[in-house]
Amino acid sequence: MTIAVDIARTTPRSVDVVAIPVPSEGPVPRGLGLTRAALATHGFEGKVGQTLVIPSATGSTVIAVGIGKAADVSVSVLRTAAAALARTASKRATVATGLADVDGVDARSAVQAVVEGLVMASYRYTDLKADTSSKSSIERVTLTMGANKAAAAAAGAERGFAAAGATCLARDLANTPPSHLTARMLAERAVELGRAAGLEVEVIDEHAAAELGLGGLLGVNAGSVEPPRLVKLTYSPRNPSGHLALVGKGVMYDSGGISLKPSDPMHALMKMDMTGAASVLGAMTALKALRVKAKVTGFMLCTDNMPSGSAMKLGDVLTMRNGKTVEIHNTDAEGRLILADGLSLAAEDKPDAIVDIATLTGACMVALGARIAGVLGNRSSWVEQVQASADRTDEPVWQLPLAKEYRKLLDSNVADMRNIGGPYGGTITAALFLQEFVADVPWAHLDIAGPMNVDADEGWLTRGATGFGARLLLDLAANFKAPSA
Ligand code: BES
Ligand code: MN
Ligand code: ZN
Repeated sequence: MTIAVDIARTTPRSVDVVAIPVPSEGPVPRGLGLTRAALATHGFEGKVGQTLVIPSATGSTVIAVGIGKAADVSVSVLRTAAAALARTASKRATVATGLADVDGVDARSAVQAVVEGLVMASYRYTDLKADTSSKSSIERVTLTMGANKAAAAAAGAERGFAAAGATCLARDLANTPPSHLTARMLAERAVELGRAAGLEVEVIDEHAAAELGLGGLLGVNAGSVEPPRLVKLTYSPRNPSGHLALVGKGVMYDSGGISLKPSDPMHALMKMDMTGAASVLGAMTALKALRVKAKVTGFMLCTDNMPSGSAMKLGDVLTMRNGKTVEIHNTDAEGRLILADGLSLAAEDKPDAIVDIATLTGACMVALGARIAGVLGNRSSWVEQVQASADRTDEPVWQLPLAKEYRKLLDSNVADMRNIGGPYGGTITAALFLQEFVADVPWAHLDIAGPMNVDADEGWLTRGATGFGARLLLDLAANFKAPSA
């Protein structure tokens, strides 16, 4: 079910809910008809994400929506507050709110954040359920604000729908069970969605991959009955202001291969090992709506990782797209093998910068926990751009060092390198492996193994796949500046 948003100067008369933003300090808005002390007796302190339903026998229900300290209101606060409102208002309700009309955040950014929060919090994966009633969300939201802000607000709403749509697409793809979404099927979806979004879409099948020498992608795919696909998406605006390349890990299901993962409930999550590719597709489909000025190319490396008589073996050596040879010491370190070929192809186009995104290492979850992605790169100014986007989209990242002293952990007796390092620093050695394939293009790597999913609804996150990175990549493209060497 889709949520309609409109912008108006005044609150429409017949809405089900009027939602009033309430700061945690200072005077309580008059429309609420309650004192701060009265709110407090109901446990409402105006904290970000708190709501209080105040029923009315005659008119609209009032919902107090906490926004924290007035001086600290930000897009992040508005997104979270809007999500709380979407969860609190009853299904199919019509809502009016001044939440996007606050001091300290410009109208376009405020409306974008509110729309993102409303839409993302209302997301449900219901494709395989007979009873889809849980999908019905609030129906219509009127954002009230001064007439002078109407144009900026409309632009913000368009951007908010595009960004939330990118995330919800990535969530849908990552939530889809592995046999319902093979590499071939994902490539077909990318053709359909990419063309509809004004992108050029090129699909490389297993034969073309062999021609191109994609030894990493073919090596990982060797054990599968399903062929691999590489999808290249191109967004080229007139007179582009720079060229950004995105590379996403699309492991449709990661069984570990011959280095089989143990049977464990956690491994039902390995259908989400294509979240990187899904986030790249999500972001790419929204570039036009955001009128992004840079040229953007996206590479999705799609295959599953299965054990079988034809699977790659430990001790095997693969020759990668850029000619480097890799000795396989663990077939479960497959993501870096397919990304390597994607990074080589991306670098061959000589973009101004590359970012890859991958559910790459359990080690990153050990280091940073389940909510924060790791970021590593070969140019600090480029990593800083990624961090700035992450701050704006509230998809947290933390930088880990690309410590060259650990490179020797990847040394091999028979090939240019092996595909795993030692028992420690696994996120760093994985990134050092990837660095071998980016030539000298400014590059950043996002390890999203932790935040690819959440167990329970929280704020604008919904349980299951999070679509982490789709909005971050979109923001990065929208604000892209070619990093200086
Ligand atoms: N897809 C996994 C990483 C992962 C683990 C993502 C948990 C999300 C949740 C990746 O392919 C993998 O298996 N990595 C190995 C690497 C190791 C063999 C060097 C890991 O982290 O154990
Ligand atoms: Mn693996
Ligand atoms: Zn994997």
